[in-house]
Amino acid sequence: MRRLLVTGGAGFIGANFVHYLVEDTDARVTVLDKLTYAASPAALEGLPSGRVELVVGDVADAALVDQLVAELGPEGAVVHFAAESHNDNSLRDPAPFVETNIVGTFVVLEAVRRHGVRLHHVSTDEVYGDLALDSPERFTESSPYRPSSPYSASKAGADHLVRAWVRSFDVQATISNCSNNYGPWQHIEKFIPRQITNVLSGTRPRLYGTGENVRDWIHAEDHSAAVWRILTQGQLGQTYLIGADGERTNKDVVQAVLRQCGRDEGDYELVTDRPGHDLRYAIDSTRLRQELGWAPRFTRFEDGLAATIDWYREHEDWWRPHKEAVEAAYAQHGQ
Ligand code: NAD
Ligand code: TYD
Repeated sequence: MRRLLVTGGAGFIGANFVHYLVEDTDARVTVLDKLTYAASPAALEGLPSGRVELVVGDVADAALVDQLVAELGPEGAVVHFAAESHNDNSLRDPAPFVETNIVGTFVVLEAVRRHGVRLHHVSTDEVYGDLALDSPERFTESSPYRPSSPYSASKAGADHLVRAWVRSFDVQATISNCSNNYGPWQHIEKFIPRQITNVLSGTRPRLYGTGENVRDWIHAEDHSAAVWRILTQGQLGQTYLIGADGERTNKDVVQAVLRQCGRDEGDYELVTDRPGHDLRYAIDSTRLRQELGWAPRFTRFEDGLAATIDWYREHEDWWRPHKEAVEAAYAQHGQ
């Protein structure tokens, strides 16, 4: 049975990945998570204790990370999700982004270097900046780094550290840069769950600017399967882009949420735009599909969205206590 250390495993994508590991592999998992405001320990409740253990701690705590990596043994691996992940928060207070995303990744790299342990580093397509709205261009593994926000700059910094540790110290690492995720357990400050929970609360969805910005959506289950595929079959030192051909304007997404909830498609509000708002992201995932044979299960965004809306309907007890505070924070910025 393979031992894995999953950093940030109580967050949205990390928790989905831990569920994937329990259901589809025989790995034994230690989750290292600081349990920030973004964490959902509830997402790990009920998982078999012989398979999943939660250690509450900081990924930038070098002594703790060293001990957890040492315990994995040479067949073990680290999958590094832990991060501050929300662009809007990074514009209000960048400090934790630098600390967790850059220093935290440095700490992980030093530990895997010392103990000769395999690492998979989870990153985002936002490190490549944005694309024109009307262009056919998509990001590839050789796109130049051109981050726009403190969040994407901190993730770019982390990616560069991983690349340097591979080249200079022969660290056994892979990197993935994935497009925008949606699915169960995503924090309601993020776009899709914010709009679903607005509609379920009887309020109007909020679109930044004119709603024309484009994101490329992938279900978190498909991201998990791709990360496992890269961890087990990927070429060391390689970067893989993960995407499911799910490009939509933000307005299209809001209209789909409204339609699926039986509301008028025009029943949304345009609010203050995000400073430096990236126009469009789009992923070309040919390498991952051709070299590693991965393909998404959710090929129709509308089906994944319907399942996600159902999930938020059924888990109101999880999100409802946070809704008022999240909306009050956005309201302060006219959003
Ligand atoms: P999230 O904010 O939902 O979860 C992050 C988790 O990391 C939380 O459980 C939090 O408690 C934990 N964490 C934060 N700081 C920590 C620290 N110092 N030490 C230990 N744990 C800490 O984020 P997410 O959306 O699940 O994203 C996970 C990863 O995937 C991130 O690295 C992110 O950059 C990347 N990613 C996200 C998306 C997306 O659409 N959400 C897309 C591509 C890549
Ligand atoms: P977000 O979920 O924050 O992800 P990212 O910034 O990583 O792409 O936002 C997705 C898109 O939705 C982005 O273009 C900003 C926009 N957005 C809104 O229009 N309204 C909202 O309330 C939020 C939170 C985001």
